[in-house]
Amino acid sequence: MRDDVQVLISRERIAERVKELGKQITAEYAGKPLTVAGVLSGGAIFCADLVREIDLPLELAFVRASSYGAGTASSGKVITDFSGAHFAGRHVLIAEDIIDTGRTMAEITRKMLEGGALSVKLCCILDKPCRRVNDVVPDYVGFTVPDGFVVGYGLDYAGKYRNLPFIGRLPQ
Ligand code: IMP
Ligand code: MG
Repeated sequence: MRDDVQVLISRERIAERVKELGKQITAEYAGKPLTVAGVLSGGAIFCADLVREIDLPLELAFVRASSYGAGTASSGKVITDFSGAHFAGRHVLIAEDIIDTGRTMAEITRKMLEGGALSVKLCCILDKPCRRVNDVVPDYVGFTVPDGFVVGYGLDYAGKYRNLPFIGRLPQ
């Protein structure tokens, strides 16, 4: 499976960057009631690595998001499922794989604030700002990437490649 994929960001570079993000988050959230919310399924792997680089007491939650739309582009409405997780009175840090159009993050953030979160910040391993359709700006970014479909480290193509330890590109 790995032979199909061209490495874009190696396992080592990811690990190094996640460590840096963890340090920064540790400094910025000290003394605050922090919940890290991973976005299933893509954000699960990044979230698991990130929380282990944050040296603070924190709560861990997972939310689900899916977008209905035509083809591979997330052109439609975003459906969220918090599966009973509550964010009232918490500073929430969302851990996501990639921010593309920004629709998913806008909807999750809106719902968390509506549910009483004290603040909501976004942390993503990848940001594709050229694809944005709204004003979503992540607070912590692993790597900024140009347009183009990527897989691995949580990101899938048709349900595959999430378990690659690196981020890569499929042959065109
Ligand atoms: P958006 O920001 O609402 O457009 O959607 C972001 C979601 O689309 C991410 O959580 C991914 O699941 C998916 N996505 C966007 N770009 C890619 C990509 O290049 N590879 C794999 N999934 C992607
Ligand atoms: Mg996703």
